[in-house]
Amino acid sequence: MLAIYRKYRPKTFEDLLGQEHIVEILRNAARQDKFAHAYLFYGSRGSGKTTTARLIAKLINCETRQTDKKFKETGEPCNKCRPCTEIDAGHALDVIEVDAASNRGIDEIRNLQEGVRLSPTSYKSKVFIIDEVHMLTREAFNALLKTLEEPPAHVIFILATTEYEKVPATISSRTQRFHFRKLALNEIIKKLSLIIKAEKLKVADDALELIAALAEGSLRDAESLLDQITSLDQSVELKDVERIAGKIGYKKTAQLAEYLLKSSLEDSLSYLNEIDQGGYNLVQLNKDLIHYLRRALTLKMSPKIEELYQKELTKDELAHLKNHAQLLQEQKHIALLKSLIRAYSEMRYSPFAIVPLEVAIIENLKH
Ligand SMILES: Nc1ncnc2c1ncn2[C@@H]1O[C@H](COP(=O)(O)OP(=O)(O)O)[C@@H](O)[C@H]1O
Ligand SMILES: [Mg+2]
Ligand SMILES: [Zn+2]
Repeated sequence: MLAIYRKYRPKTFEDLLGQEHIVEILRNAARQDKFAHAYLFYGSRGSGKTTTARLIAKLINCETRQTDKKFKETGEPCNKCRPCTEIDAGHALDVIEVDAASNRGIDEIRNLQEGVRLSPTSYKSKVFIIDEVHMLTREAFNALLKTLEEPPAHVIFILATTEYEKVPATISSRTQRFHFRKLALNEIIKKLSLIIKAEKLKVADDALELIAALAEGSLRDAESLLDQITSLDQSVELKDVERIAGKIGYKKTAQLAEYLLKSSLEDSLSYLNEIDQGGYNLVQLNKDLIHYLRRALTLKMSPKIEELYQKELTKDELAHLKNHAQLLQEQKHIALLKSLIRAYSEMRYSPFAIVPLEVAIIENLKH
């Protein structure tokens, strides 16, 4: 069975989420048939770089677009002609994908240069997609630079990287650059919901939210996790995701934070022990807790930060957080936060992870 992340790779710009700023420019390029000779896509993993590279390869080579005006205007590929279907299936001879992480050296780039010189076998243009381009050796970069300086007319380069700073300026300045941003939580939830529906899976809402949050902005990670979890059981509850991820859902973190903010020592300790009994990873829990309190604190100090948190949290989560920010007493809770951070480094090396956490809580709440 095809992995979910492959099966649901967007085939049109319409389906590419969260990168509107890039889509607009590329659609215009497609309408006018004016693509750059080299692109550099950078940004976090699973945000649509390879997907967009393939979209460009299709747009340039789509046969229907050459003949049908309608497709020119939409700035989308037809997804039916031979080049479109071959590129989607990943066996187009004229679309060459190179993983620079495992082909780092000068010899590999020389091979590539051979290919650059040869005309396309059957398409209009040859498209070279070089992934993780920052991994190339210095020699290899120099060789690539020569090619980028004088590329043949039938060739387009698309370089992709998660580490922009490691790409030499000589290279990046010869490209049109696009920053792919992390996907917002609601965008990830939106796409996972579509997949769940299409695959007739059963995933509880809170389970879905945790899967999306665990992906930290990467749609590929979210889709892989969904794949992994639903392959065990078609019907997924929050506790299944919690168990597999070793991480508890947002509600438990928020509940513990509430006890702490209300300075309820008894409730805090008994709830912590309840979580521990459930077999969850307490280091992870503390990390989540620190983030939760930090968000509450920053939200109280700077309410406009809410805009940013809208991207990372669901509406429910944000509502909780705002309530909790009201409970916050700066001095007292900054001290708590500091103790939790100290406990975090102690816990990681301690055979009794719960102890530093309990001590931090007792120290801060006992008065
Ligand atoms: N912006 C996006 N919109 C919709 N799906 C996406 C997006 N980014 C990634 N995905 C999903 O994740 C998978 C991997 O995306 P990919 O383009 O290979 O990411 P990368 O940025 O690491 O190259 C895709 O097949 C698709 O299912
Ligand atoms: Mg990629
Ligand atoms: Zn086509």
